[in-house]
Amino acid sequence: MNALFRRKSFDALGQMDPANRLRATLSWPHLIALGVGAIVGTGIYTLIGVGAGLAGPGVILSIAGAVCVCAALAYAEMATMIPAAGSAYTYTYTVLGEGLAWIVGWSLILEYTVVCSAVAVGWSGHVAEFLPFVPGALLAGPGAGGIINLPSMLISFLVAGFLIVGTKESATVNVVLVILKIVALTAFVVIAGGHFQPAHFHPFMPFGFSGQGADGSKIGVMAAASIIFFAFYGFGTISTAAEETKNPGRDLTIGILGSMILCIVIYMAVAAAAIGAVPVASFAASSAPLVFILDSLHSPLAARLVAGAAVVALPTVILAFMYGQSRIFFVMARDGLLPRSLAKVSARTGTPVTMTAITALIAAAIAGFLPLGQIAALANAGTLCAFIAVAVCMMVLRIREPGRTRVFRAPVWWLVGPLGVLGCLYLFSSLPSLTIGLFFLWNGLGVVLYLLFARRSSLLARTP
Ligand code: ALA
Repeated sequence: MNALFRRKSFDALGQMDPANRLRATLSWPHLIALGVGAIVGTGIYTLIGVGAGLAGPGVILSIAGAVCVCAALAYAEMATMIPAAGSAYTYTYTVLGEGLAWIVGWSLILEYTVVCSAVAVGWSGHVAEFLPFVPGALLAGPGAGGIINLPSMLISFLVAGFLIVGTKESATVNVVLVILKIVALTAFVVIAGGHFQPAHFHPFMPFGFSGQGADGSKIGVMAAASIIFFAFYGFGTISTAAEETKNPGRDLTIGILGSMILCIVIYMAVAAAAIGAVPVASFAASSAPLVFILDSLHSPLAARLVAGAAVVALPTVILAFMYGQSRIFFVMARDGLLPRSLAKVSARTGTPVTMTAITALIAAAIAGFLPLGQIAALANAGTLCAFIAVAVCMMVLRIREPGRTRVFRAPVWWLVGPLGVLGCLYLFSSLPSLTIGLFFLWNGLGVVLYLLFARRSSLLARTP
């Protein structure tokens, strides 16, 4: 039983074997770019339509965004206190113990892998617009009427290649692509905003706050928020880069909060412009809603430009999550909870090559065969679990160790912490029932693996 509660010590985090340490090459502009690159993606480009279909104009309410702000504040506090790779997993290991840390790490593996897959599938939907000569059966998985989604698999491997070349190089490419993505969304807001009609916002919540559709599925503003939640997260990938930042205290605070606020503003502007331009019902079912809206406003050139920007820039989301994923694996392996042979860092590039390659293989396999909606909902479940853990860690540490130095302090922590936890629990309960079941199945498997293997191979089990 003790194994479940054994904790990493704060001091040990600064004493890693130099041969196994990641190289510090990043500063805050890289982190803001990493954050925006990870946050603005398939959520805004594609899932905004799904959300609008479930909630009507009320999709603009950004309830999920508010929950993410609470989580981001807790992340910022924890990341600056524990500037070691591993994010929510490492915080939980240090504050709550190994058992819960394993569950959080196992959920993060689910989240990071399936986010890569989901965005790869969303990217594939946009690139298909430019590939009329490729048979449809090769552009979609079995759940979406095809045989295999080849483009989504190819983009997963391409992004992994960038990461394997080295962190700094990849982050620099990321900055350029993030700027392109923001320019495209700004163009959308300007063009669609020119056709703004306030009447499109009535009725504001046609399906209420939390209700049931004719087929028993969840609908309303909360059901939409549980899916649109996908659009707001990604800032956690910044904290996974903590060990590689030059000045963690300053860089992580600016990186996490700056990218979060920027992304909420972008989301609300895009949603307002979209809803104001055309009736919600017309774009709710589109697989590329922003492109669809521009087409229906008779701006075909702008529509192609936005689709093109999505094709070029959405891979930044995959880049950020694949980066985070390989490091979660890396840290869990370094802790002895996953096979340690996987934790090896390349002497030439300073990146964990084997783990990055394995992550790409699994993400590609999922993207090639499963439908987007299911993948995104599952990613949300894993993310919500990690957010709850980080908020709990922040609160527990405030009570247990109030005197410990904090580079960044979450304001009104006694309100932000509980709001974050309750908001995440409510969003989790609003997810489709199938998703909730799959999430518990995944974690059930994780618990079995922990009890059979990880508990004994843990570095802490072998340290007196
Ligand atoms: N927030 C990211 C996206 O919308 C995961 O694609």
